[in-house]
Amino acid sequence: MKLKKFVDRLPIMNTLKSERKNKKGAYYEVQMEEFTQKLHRDLRPTRLWGYNRQFPGPTIEVNKGEPIQVKWINNLPRRHILPVDKSIHEVAHHPEVRTVTHLHGSETKPESDGYPEAWYTRNFKEVGPFFKREIYEYPNRQRAATLWYHDHAMGITRLNMYAGLAGMYIIRDEQEKRLNLPKGKYEVPLVIQDRTFNKDGSLFYPRQPDDPASDLPNPSISPFFIGDKILVNGKVWPYFEVEPRKYRFRILNASNTRAYQLTLDSNQPFYQIGSDGGLLQRTVKMEKIAIEPAERVDVIIDFSKHSGKTITLKNDLGPNASPEDETDEVMQFDVNLPLSGTDHSNIPQKVSHIPSLRHNKINAIRNLKLAGSTDEYGRPLLLLDNKKWMDPVTENPHLGATEIWALTNITGFTHPIHIHLIQFQILDRRPFDLDSYNKDGRIVYTGSAIAPEPNERGWKDTVAAPSAQITRLIMKFVPYAGDYVWHCHILEHEDYDMMRPLRVIDPKRLDHGK
Ligand code: C2O
Ligand code: CU
Ligand code: CU
Repeated sequence: MKLKKFVDRLPIMNTLKSERKNKKGAYYEVQMEEFTQKLHRDLRPTRLWGYNRQFPGPTIEVNKGEPIQVKWINNLPRRHILPVDKSIHEVAHHPEVRTVTHLHGSETKPESDGYPEAWYTRNFKEVGPFFKREIYEYPNRQRAATLWYHDHAMGITRLNMYAGLAGMYIIRDEQEKRLNLPKGKYEVPLVIQDRTFNKDGSLFYPRQPDDPASDLPNPSISPFFIGDKILVNGKVWPYFEVEPRKYRFRILNASNTRAYQLTLDSNQPFYQIGSDGGLLQRTVKMEKIAIEPAERVDVIIDFSKHSGKTITLKNDLGPNASPEDETDEVMQFDVNLPLSGTDHSNIPQKVSHIPSLRHNKINAIRNLKLAGSTDEYGRPLLLLDNKKWMDPVTENPHLGATEIWALTNITGFTHPIHIHLIQFQILDRRPFDLDSYNKDGRIVYTGSAIAPEPNERGWKDTVAAPSAQITRLIMKFVPYAGDYVWHCHILEHEDYDMMRPLRVIDPKRLDHGK
């Protein structure tokens, strides 16, 4: 089904209001519910799941140093609106819909982090084996950054998020305020997602066919999902009217599998000022920006010399495989509003200070493989270091330790690897020969180590780990101990079974966080 581009105005998510203030800070309540929303002028309303009946969810905005509490209320119906295929996770077939919410990129105590097994069902009637609670506490002690919240329920995260359970979370601080960046209506979140629709407007998600030739359960879950429509802030290919001036865009790739490479067809650059963990050291001028699932880029676009023009935000990775697939375009900017007053905002050269972790004493180096495998039925699945979710914890740093993680990708494609609790720095990527690795398991380097891209030299919580490269990260495990996770953020991989526990051990305590 074709849909006309650039006929709907870009929606801006509203900001969540707190219910009250108490001694633990502002208190919010968020309901997860089923509802319908119009995602395109010519599409019938789509049945979705969302936070407070919105897709994407309302934006949560906080100031650094001001803790908040959020009660995440599961009010979803009993049955999933998407097909749940068989996987090794029995719990995926639980008779009730399970949710648990994770604040991606945040420094949060384990019991508020959204551990995949900390799920609960409608009205909190049944709870999973971990951290039985629905009121979460966010300390907001970290620097200003664009974070996001989303579902993280064991085995069905891809379905819950595809149904709509994601929203933005912005931390502000004084240092950032001093930079005089475009603000107010000139600071705009862009949540980019891909979807495919059925004719009746409902979401399409592939169901794996039963294999008639065997009596095994279904083949494994779909190993990827690529939609043929692109949505920004919940509208298919929207347009946005702008003034001829500078705007700040906080861009989030909240797609299940799809990566984008963004360009502007006016041949203008993006001035990137921030990444996952907040502001970079200095602004970098980018002609194209690659963004993997879960990554954020904070950019300024200057429309001041483009009055009267229409500028398209393009995606160089749009495959254009079928005539239905027009994913080479994302949205449009119409520079047709009159300039209201003078634009006094800045594109600063130096934006912040990022202390390097390179000179820390290194407590451990972990070599971790990203690899394909098969499950007990011979069905393909992807694994982290050849271990499944259920295998005992192996990534168990001490609280305060600095570690280097070397991610060796022996699969044929990039995996966006995400680690909870901390923000890391990328050291380098080094290419090796995959053929000789596959022959005798030995690493033969085909080049020297490559420094991270200039826009990757800040704090990151999600990193592109490309095929046939060793991607090295450095990180310090603070400020909390306990049970977290790390995983591939391609949701189809995360669910089956590219996710592992991460246990930060406080050597001063015997019971570590449980
Ligand atoms: Cu954005 Cu563990 O996830
Ligand atoms: Cu996360
Ligand atoms: Cu992956």
